[in-house]
Amino acid sequence: MSQPTTDVTRLLRRVRNIREFTPEPISEDTLVDILEVGRWTGSASNRQPTEVVVVRDPQARQKLVEAGSNTAGKAAVSLVIVTPGDPARAELEIFDDGRLAERLLVAAAAHGLGSGITTLKGEGPAAVKQMLGIPSERRVRTVVNIGHRDEAAIRAKPKNPQPRKPMTEFAHWDHY
Ligand SMILES: Cc1cc2nc3c(=O)[nH]c(=O)nc-3n(C[C@H](O)[C@H](O)[C@H](O)COP(=O)(O)O)c2cc1C
Repeated sequence: MSQPTTDVTRLLRRVRNIREFTPEPISEDTLVDILEVGRWTGSASNRQPTEVVVVRDPQARQKLVEAGSNTAGKAAVSLVIVTPGDPARAELEIFDDGRLAERLLVAAAAHGLGSGITTLKGEGPAAVKQMLGIPSERRVRTVVNIGHRDEAAIRAKPKNPQPRKPMTEFAHWDHY
């Protein structure tokens, strides 16, 4: 069945989690445009609980790599998402964190850049908070890495034969 698509929906379909980057930096203007998209992300009750720490320093980025798992050591920049850490609103904070992360990935893709998520695990959040001067009560779990795509390295990766489940297993029309 042929479906109508648009430039935007084609872009959205192509947003994948990228971990292979070239060393080329990203211009500050591009980064600010991506951050503007992040700033305009909607949140529960419009409480806007999210903030980001923009990490460009290679040594700090290396520490972020060590605090996460399977992440991209060579990205140009890492955006560390910070939320207030209110235990009573944990579910909403994590939802807002994820929604912001996705928008940042999409904004990066719209600029032709690669981007990927790393989740901080174990001692990772505490170590990252200490390194970046984030107050200890705040919640830090998601890092969005952004950089220029290393197309050769991406092509060389083994391909998942079914990167997504079929539509029949995803969408249930009128009844589950
Ligand atoms: C909530 C969440 C947490 C993730 N955490 C990590 C992570 O810690 N490390 C990592 O390499 N990828 C992480 N990813 C990326 C997923 O592995 C990726 O979305 C999935 O494998 C699909 O990749 P693809 O879009 O390239 O097919 C995370 C994604 C999400 C949505």
